[in-house]
Amino acid sequence: MALVPGKQILEEAEKKGYGVGAYNVNNMEQIQAIMAAAKETQSPVIIQASRGALKYSNFTYLGYLMKAAVIENPDIPVVMHLDHGNSLESVVKAIELGFSSVMIDGSLMEDGRTASTYEYNVDVTRSVVVYAHARGVSVEAEIGTLGGLEDGVGSGNAHLTNPKEAKNFVDETGVDSLAIAIGTSHGAYKFKGAINLAFDVLKEVRSLVDIPIVLHGASCVPKELIDELNKYGGKMPGAMGVPITSLQEAIKLGVSKVNVDTDGRLAITAAIRKVFVENPEKFDPREYLGPARTALTNIIVSKMKAFGTAGHAKDYTPKTLDDMKKLYIGSA
Ligand code: G3H
Ligand code: 13P
Ligand code: ZN
Repeated sequence: MALVPGKQILEEAEKKGYGVGAYNVNNMEQIQAIMAAAKETQSPVIIQASRGALKYSNFTYLGYLMKAAVIENPDIPVVMHLDHGNSLESVVKAIELGFSSVMIDGSLMEDGRTASTYEYNVDVTRSVVVYAHARGVSVEAEIGTLGGLEDGVGSGNAHLTNPKEAKNFVDETGVDSLAIAIGTSHGAYKFKGAINLAFDVLKEVRSLVDIPIVLHGASCVPKELIDELNKYGGKMPGAMGVPITSLQEAIKLGVSKVNVDTDGRLAITAAIRKVFVENPEKFDPREYLGPARTALTNIIVSKMKAFGTAGHAKDYTPKTLDDMKKLYIGSA
């Protein structure tokens, strides 16, 4: 069984210059699809659950499904990660479920919408680092805020990361990886006109900070998927994401963790819409969730290849959380 701490996978990726996709999950089919893609491409993988996803599954259900992914795939290094934890309490819950990595998003207040102060962010992040490191669990934090609104995640007011503040934040908190804001946002409507990403901010953060960097809001929102969705009754005019070439550039400039949720949602929904339109007589969930699962596997296979993750599963001698506890002693 290869449950690995986030720190190990991301530091390895940083060293070798590839990106690891962190894919959001809510249910069994999504987890199976991601693991099938990881197996097919022999990639290390991060499966992540948001607070909303955990709540939707009554917490334990999703926790057990994620553990099943680890147990069923002993040769694939898997990180179980909490996405956008908003308090020490949310982190404690995830660690009790067996997660090997947590995000504390102190860039926003607990409501997940209101921008916080730097001091608040440092305080809440430090408390999470102390708690998580004592248990061998890795911590991602965020400095700067993404634009865009998603259920409980995102302030609607983008605020790019200040590189010097990022450096102080890392020094003051002892986090293992850092999410920065360079102009991406959550969801399917990332840009209104020109695509404008602050690669200069990324470069400066990279030069000042030596822990792995994380990019949220990294879905591509492929035009083919939007066309497919709209063709089968969807209504998503103006949807736009981050081009894959921009993500590859970001990885080259130092991004190690690439967060993807929206593209998975689009692939699933397009596949289900297609089944319903073409076969209105079908009502067995396996007959639409099955094609949705296959569509999701395909899109993740292509991301694992594009991010350079493919083929790297074998590089790891997985560390346990106990190994990590020893590593962390004195660091928090
Ligand atoms: O970053 C946010 C993810 O897309 C999760 O979204 O809170 O709707 O599950 P959610
Ligand atoms: P997308 O909405 O671009 O997929 O971003 C997902 C994300 O950042 C999850 O934390
Ligand atoms: Zn996010």
